[in-house]
Amino acid sequence: MAMAERFGARWLPFRFVLAVALLVLVTDRAVMMRAGATPIGINYGQIADNLPSPARVSWLLRSMQVSKVKLYDADPYVLGAFLDTGVEFVVGIGNENVSAMVDPAAARAWIQRHVQPFLPATRITCITVGNEVFKGNDTELKANLLPAMQSVYQALAALGLQGRVNVTTAHSLDIMGSSFPPSAGAFRADVVPYMQPILSFLSMARSPFLINCYPYFAYKADPGNVPLEYVLFQPNAGVTDTNTRLNYDNMLYAQVDSVYAAIQALGHADIDVKISETGWPSRGDPDEAGATPEYAGTYTGNLLRRIEMKQGTPLRPSVPIDVYVFALFNENLKPGPASERNYGLFYPDGTPVYNVGLRGYLPPMDYSRGTRKAVPLLALILIAVAAITLSLS
Ligand SMILES: *[C@@H]1O[C@H](CO)[C@@H](O)[C@H](O)[C@H]1NC(C)=O
Ligand SMILES: *[C@@H]1O[C@H](CO)[C@@H](O)[C@H](O)[C@H]1NC(C)=O
Ligand SMILES: *[C@@H]1O[C@H](CO)[C@@H](O)[C@H](O)[C@H]1NC(C)=O
Repeated sequence: MAMAERFGARWLPFRFVLAVALLVLVTDRAVMMRAGATPIGINYGQIADNLPSPARVSWLLRSMQVSKVKLYDADPYVLGAFLDTGVEFVVGIGNENVSAMVDPAAARAWIQRHVQPFLPATRITCITVGNEVFKGNDTELKANLLPAMQSVYQALAALGLQGRVNVTTAHSLDIMGSSFPPSAGAFRADVVPYMQPILSFLSMARSPFLINCYPYFAYKADPGNVPLEYVLFQPNAGVTDTNTRLNYDNMLYAQVDSVYAAIQALGHADIDVKISETGWPSRGDPDEAGATPEYAGTYTGNLLRRIEMKQGTPLRPSVPIDVYVFALFNENLKPGPASERNYGLFYPDGTPVYNVGLRGYLPPMDYSRGTRKAVPLLALILIAVAAITLSLS
């Protein structure tokens, strides 16, 4: 009995360290094998003071098979944590910096500093110039948006990066003057003068049109009349567009097709529409109907299934929806109603806010800078430590 105990105590550290080493190796292989399996995109917002380091987040995202990440800036610590991972990045120029980018030299300097150093090891494939610019009342910003996009585009070309990085901007759905039925979709009258030349630019540059869509806002505004099944992708009879006879079983697709119609009405049939943000909050203020973990889980889970099915909208059935879920983490410093701080799939400690079948692994510490090369080395070190532990005991 006493001998067995001593024997156990002697072997325990060795077995523990060996198990950790094997786990590190196995996890890394599993992440590699699944990378790129499902084209899930996610918004990695950082308006918070309690988020894990980018190196740990790199592990989390890869363990979830996330293949596309969208940032609101071009955080070098994030981009550096994804070298050689194959994960595709959308980086952003914040609204506060858009006007400065009208100057070609500033645009060029921005790319040289924030994009070029990471290519091609980190796959930056798109730059968003501004976010939801037409939601605000800043007329100078609205007027500067297209010239800034043009400067960024020309700077990419001058640096030999044309065709490798798209240039666009992300809009909120309130650019729409009408969105129902989808075939009657039209931009707001005050937006059209800005939008017409932006569409010409996107068409020329072969860049996508990005739209942030939140069926949750429609539900929150009128919970008594907006059917929950229709906004949560649950079985329902749907709504038929009387002009096209197309049936919509969910609001998100109706919103996207209304944007296609609005673009078409301004003469363009050659621009892809992508969903740069969509999501559902898991918590809200008392007057924010529907902000619960149950509904958030239903919305996100059903959305992920449709992404996996590579489904298109009724108007473009053969073009799989291209979606960036909002958002990776709850962000505790976001202003506004409580829902704004509760869109995350994860709490900052890596615990899922609700279960949608996305398995994620947030490593407990920064044991590598997110580069896979360090992993076998770490495993070796752990095995060496195990051997030393064994020989000393
Ligand atoms: C972007 O704007 C912020 C805030 O005004 C400023 O501190 C920063 O230097 C700007 N960055 C660039 C690249 O212009
Ligand atoms: C913009 O201006 C209009 C009219 O002046 C006002 O109703 C609206 O609330 C303003 N929007 C913002 C975001 O400030
Ligand atoms: C740029 O956007 C177009 C249109 O959506 C797309 O076909 C192309 O693959 C994108 N380019 C890159 C480098 O991602």
